[in-house]
Amino acid sequence: MPSLLRLTYASRARFDDVNGSAGIHPEVARILIQSRRNNPRRGLVGALYFGDGCFFQCLEGPAAEVEALYQQLHADPRHHDLKVLAREEIARRSFASWAMKLVPNAAEVRRLMARHGRATFDPYSFDADLLASMNRLLIEGPDAKLAAEVVTPPPGAPEPALGLRYAMAVLGVVLLGVVATVAVAR
Ligand SMILES: Cc1cc2nc3c(=O)[nH]c(=O)nc-3n(C[C@H](O)[C@H](O)[C@H](O)COP(=O)(O)O)c2cc1C
Repeated sequence: MPSLLRLTYASRARFDDVNGSAGIHPEVARILIQSRRNNPRRGLVGALYFGDGCFFQCLEGPAAEVEALYQQLHADPRHHDLKVLAREEIARRSFASWAMKLVPNAAEVRRLMARHGRATFDPYSFDADLLASMNRLLIEGPDAKLAAEVVTPPPGAPEPALGLRYAMAVLGVVLLGVVATVAVAR
C-alpha cells in the first residue's frame, strides 16, 4: 500500500476577501467545485478554510498524489505565497468522507484566534499548538453548504420575499372579490 501523507499549507488569495459576507466567496466556491470533481480520481481528500485573505488547506492521500497536486497549486493565479505548515505521514485519512470539506469562516475559528491573542487569521505565524488546534477544528467543524447552493439559487426557486408578495396579492384579489360580491348582493 502506498504511504499516506497529510500536507497542510497556507497561501494568500489574490482576490479581495468579502468581509462580513454571509455567503461563500464565488472564487472559493469555484475552487471547491474543482476540488470535489478532481480529488476522488486521485484518491485525495481534505479540508479548506478561507479567512482574512488567507487559505489554510489540508490535503490527504497517497504521497505522490498529494505532492503532485501541491506542485500544481503553485501555478494557480488565484493565490500565491504558498508555505508548507506540516508534512506528516498518516495511518489513515481524517477527512475520509470529504473530497474537499469547506469549513465556513465560523465563530469557532475566531474564538480560537482570540484565545491565542490574535485579531486576524494569519496561518503563517501558527505555532505547533495552534496548528494542531486548527486541524482539530477542521476535522470536527461543520461543512459549509455546497457552493452551488450558496452562490447561485437553484433556477426557478422563488425568493421568499417574492413568494410572500405573491400570496398577499392573491389574498387582496380574493378580498376584493368578496367585497364586490357583498356590494352587488345588496
Ligand atoms: C487554495 C486553492 C486550493 C485548491 N485545491 C484544489 C484541490 O484540492 N484539488 C484540485 O483539483 N484543485 C484544487 N485547486 C484548483 C487547482 O489549482 C486547479 O485550478 C484545478 O485543479 C484545475 O482543475 P481542472 O483541470 O479540472 O479545471 C485549488 C486552488 C486553490 C487556489
